[in-house]
Amino acid sequence: MLYIIDTANIEDIKRLVEFYPIDGVTTNPTIISKEHTDFLALVKKIRKIIGEQRMFHIQVTGETSEKMIYEARKLREYVGGNFYVKIPICEEGLRATMKLKEEGFNVTMTAIFTQQQALIAAKAGADFVAPYVNRLDNIVSDGVSVVTETVEMFEKQKIDCGVLAASFKTVEQIHKVAMAGCQAVTISADLFSTLMYHPMTTKAIYDFGQDWKGVYGDTTIADMFSGK
Ligand code: E4P
Repeated sequence: MLYIIDTANIEDIKRLVEFYPIDGVTTNPTIISKEHTDFLALVKKIRKIIGEQRMFHIQVTGETSEKMIYEARKLREYVGGNFYVKIPICEEGLRATMKLKEEGFNVTMTAIFTQQQALIAAKAGADFVAPYVNRLDNIVSDGVSVVTETVEMFEKQKIDCGVLAASFKTVEQIHKVAMAGCQAVTISADLFSTLMYHPMTTKAIYDFGQDWKGVYGDTTIADMFSGK
């Protein structure tokens, strides 16, 4: 399963790419707006930090397929590397997706809330569909089951489209979509760090340190090798 970070915050991206096995970055207009900065300079900076190989998903803002296609072409040329254009599921978005696939674009169809939206997006050629797990849970629906059934449906129908589950608020949601065989998840910076946390791990690491210091004091293995 690919781990992608759902943020446009430069400090968060720098930290997460340095310390975690991150496969890419996703953004949307809401995430970009939170940074209150020049959009073109921001996406250029993000590409520089994550390198050419990691996926970078950027959402179009145009409301017609012509504008979406124009933005996708310009963004791909400007950002370069492993680029995915994010397009919301709607009639104009589907038309844009079908045309962009003819030009060899990687497309992620986003704002997916139902299995049938996902199937239509996949048939239009999307490489990934992005169902919004927590937003479904918030309306007393079941985000994990939409992801699970979409994964199963693509397998049964032999459809070559990945599920990039999005909109998470809990580690449990992420674990459940991983168990369902979801190909990718995109997670906020805060929740990403929480994935790693367990108080027993923190205690175990503390205890190792205390036991070592009880015999060797502050001298580390590295000090022993370097003769300190
Ligand atoms: C990513 O593609 C989505 O835009 C994002 O995960 C939505 O998350 P939210 O529901 O926390 O805004």
